[in-house]
Amino acid sequence: MDSISQEMFQQAKAVRDRAYAPYSNFHVGACILADDDKLFVGCNVENAAYPLSQCAEGSAITAMIAAGYNKIKSIAVIGSGDKLTPPCGGCRQKILEFASPDTQVLLFDDNGLAKTTTIGELLPLSFNQVNLERD
Ligand code: THU
Repeated sequence: MDSISQEMFQQAKAVRDRAYAPYSNFHVGACILADDDKLFVGCNVENAAYPLSQCAEGSAITAMIAAGYNKIKSIAVIGSGDKLTPPCGGCRQKILEFASPDTQVLLFDDNGLAKTTTIGELLPLSFNQVNLERD
């Protein structure tokens, strides 16, 4: 694993520890590598009104945008337990907004990198900005 992926792993794992997930008890951390090689992290933040809960990936995107960056070069995700945590459907759409189809999605478990995929693979035939263009 290259040093930037290693750093993304460490940061995603660290922010996962700060997740607020008292309802699911499923803690998720995400780390975005943005333009200028800036890193932005986010964790899931749940709410007693369950549908208001925010995923880790969305939290990281919010941090990136608030800091004035808007290009996802790659994104790392780590969940809880033995299974991987591929981004949920809504998060795939949110990631794609700031990515290109070949943007890498790095799925980690507690031992390190377990799978590398792309947002294009996770969200084929997507609805995106292009679909809003009219003649
Ligand atoms: N969760 C994420 O943070 N990211 C995902 O891509 C999948 C699900 C969170 C939402 C909720 O707080 C918990 O994991 C269980 O679904």
